[in-house]
Amino acid sequence: MASVISRSSLQIKPLTPAIGAEIFGIDLAAPDVADHVPAIRSALLAHKVIFFRDQHISAAQHIAFARHFGDLEIHPATPKDQPDPEILRIAHGPDSRGTENAWHSDVTWRERPSLGSILRAIEVPPVGGDTLFADMHLAFLSLSPQMQRIARGLNAVHDIARVFAGRLGKTADDLRAKYPPRTHPVVRTHPETGAPTLFVNTAFTSHIEGLSAAESATLLAHLYATASNPEIQCRFRWQAGSIAFWDNRASQHFAASDYFPARRVMERVTIAGCKPFHDAARG
Ligand code: SIN
Repeated sequence: MASVISRSSLQIKPLTPAIGAEIFGIDLAAPDVADHVPAIRSALLAHKVIFFRDQHISAAQHIAFARHFGDLEIHPATPKDQPDPEILRIAHGPDSRGTENAWHSDVTWRERPSLGSILRAIEVPPVGGDTLFADMHLAFLSLSPQMQRIARGLNAVHDIARVFAGRLGKTADDLRAKYPPRTHPVVRTHPETGAPTLFVNTAFTSHIEGLSAAESATLLAHLYATASNPEIQCRFRWQAGSIAFWDNRASQHFAASDYFPARRVMERVTIAGCKPFHDAARG
């Protein structure tokens, strides 16, 4: 059984040896939340995804908490007239089956993909709707040394249109005119920990540059499969008021869409990140 580790006045209880920890002893609505930011940031770097329970905060408090970690993004799926555009509402129910059930990290189609996302549960199904997280540093380490070397030398293209052309009712060309496909290293160096992480995902990666279509598809399928090992994953069961904060540079996630036709309503705030790089000397 994992032990409870204290950092600052927070209690941090790992969910698995690889990834995920629950944080206790904090009220995210309290005025002293800023005092805990260094400890939260270090827990995020250590565990890649951290969870808080019973945090019945408002959308404004959600945004204010996220701002402690950086600038916030506005997602193109947010309605134009929404008063708090930093909030991305992810709602499913009898009229819409969940669509976040593919391994991915968020907005890798951006030139500077997100540092992290903070997701708040508003309404949860009676059962199901868990989110799974995978440690993409351990995914990288699960490759043979030769395959690690090959992957380190490759770049891949990430395309918003793969997911959002249909969802936003736009043509792929219209969407790409505003959000051009972006090329990122297949293995990125985490800008804070220096760890190499596998940075391709089933949702947004279209292909690996310089390979034939067949070679790219075969290699991507092999790289994607690394995330599916339960030994590098954790799985979070939501309650209303639960919050997950994940590091998009170090992890991927998959929202199980097993709850249809029940309702599941979540709100996400996404923190802007930096341009991915690969530093062979560091990681
Ligand atoms: C997401 O993919 O950002 C949402 C995950 C979830 O709804 O659990």
